[in-house]
Order: sequence, then structure tokens, then C-alpha cells
Amino acid sequence: MVRLNKYLADCGVGSRRECDRLIADGAVKINGRVAQLGDAVDEGAHVTVHDKRIGDKQKNYYILLHKPKGYVTTVKDDLGRKTVMDLVHVNARLYPVGRLDYDTEGLLILTNDGDLANRLTHPRNEINKTYVARISGQLTDAERIRLEKGVLIDGIKTAPARIKILSRDVHHTRCEITIHEGRNRQVKKMFETVGKEVEFLKRVAVGELRLGGLKRGEYRFLTEIEVEYLKNL
Ligand code: URA
Repeated sequence: MVRLNKYLADCGVGSRRECDRLIADGAVKINGRVAQLGDAVDEGAHVTVHDKRIGDKQKNYYILLHKPKGYVTTVKDDLGRKTVMDLVHVNARLYPVGRLDYDTEGLLILTNDGDLANRLTHPRNEINKTYVARISGQLTDAERIRLEKGVLIDGIKTAPARIKILSRDVHHTRCEITIHEGRNRQVKKMFETVGKEVEFLKRVAVGELRLGGLKRGEYRFLTEIEVEYLKNL
């Protein structure tokens, strides 16, 4: 929460005093309601001055979204499918950090901080991404070890991975897999090399940042401590 006159000033509307005048004149609305002097604004609120939306373009936003399946991880989709941007209502040019497949759910970071986005996605930084996967059939220990050591996908060996079996029955294995590369459909392709199909895939963590109790489609702003943590990964 920030005081409205400070918010407006930070957005370049004018000095705080000028902003107070605009508020007193009834020219400012927050989420469609005429604002009063002394009002506060939530991050991501819809603020207008003379019915023109304004936003703090300088400010960096860091959002953790629980992406549901059925959404593409792009800003726009040529096929007209729903995108993750449809789920986040923040007046800034955000973009997703990395990619989750259309049918993958889980932790997705969105930001307008290009430096952090590059940092988190650059292979050199080897940032761990952890997924829970349900796969067809029983994953044997020999297969698990093969996958952990590295398998060829698209002619290139994958970097070492960690796999923890969570449960196994005749038809399925549930496991947690941690990789630090971000190749296209990597987890699915890795399991394909041992003849297994990924039936369900959810990213539960990036580094130590976990999805936690967010419901599908919900998002929250990262705390300063979390942002600092990501910047130092
Ligand atoms: N690996 C995949 O196969 N799909 C994802 O969405 C993420 C990692």
C-alpha cells in the first residue's frame, strides 16, 4: 500500500501537491471509484487520471503466479489461446520468466525486470527448478539413475538431475525431479528416453522459492527478501 499522492507523483503525474489537487477535483479514480484525499493504493490497482490509465513505469514488479494448465506462457498467442497475462492484473509490461508448457502447471515468475529475468534463465547460472511429475508405469531405480546421470535429448546430454520417488503403484510413479537446465519440454523428453510418459507436471520450486499454498490461477507479489534471494541466486 502506498499513499495515492506519492503513487501519482512517482508515476510522473506531477508534484504531490499537484496530485492532491487532482484528487480533490475528483479527477482520480482507483479501480473505477473516485478517489479521496488520503487514499492509499494497492500494488497493481487500476488508477486513472481524467479517465486515462496511469502506471508506475519505473517500478519493478515481481510476481509469483500459480499457472494452471490451459494457458500459454507468452504475452500474446497467435492462436488466440488464453495466456498467463490474462491471469495477472498489474498495470506494467510484465513478461514471464522462462516457460511452462500449455499443459504444465505451477510456479511461474512474472516481472518487468529484464536483468533478473535474464539471470534466472541463463543456463550459466544453473538455477534449480523442481517439478512434481506423475509418469506412466513404474520407474525403476536403474532408470532413475540413468536420468539423474544425464540422457541424450535432441542429441545433447542433459546435465545431472535429482529424482526422488514419492510413490509408485502398478500404473504410475510420482516423483520430484530437479533440473537446472531449461530446455524445451525437457522433463517430458527425459522421461521419454526411458519409455515413460509424463501425465502430469507441476513446477513446485525455483531455487528455494516454493509455490506454497497459492491456488491455481492465483498470484502474489514477491517480498523484498524473496526478490533479493532471487537476485543473488
Ligand atoms: N519440462 C517440461 O517438459 N515441460 C515444462 O513445462 C517444464 C519442464
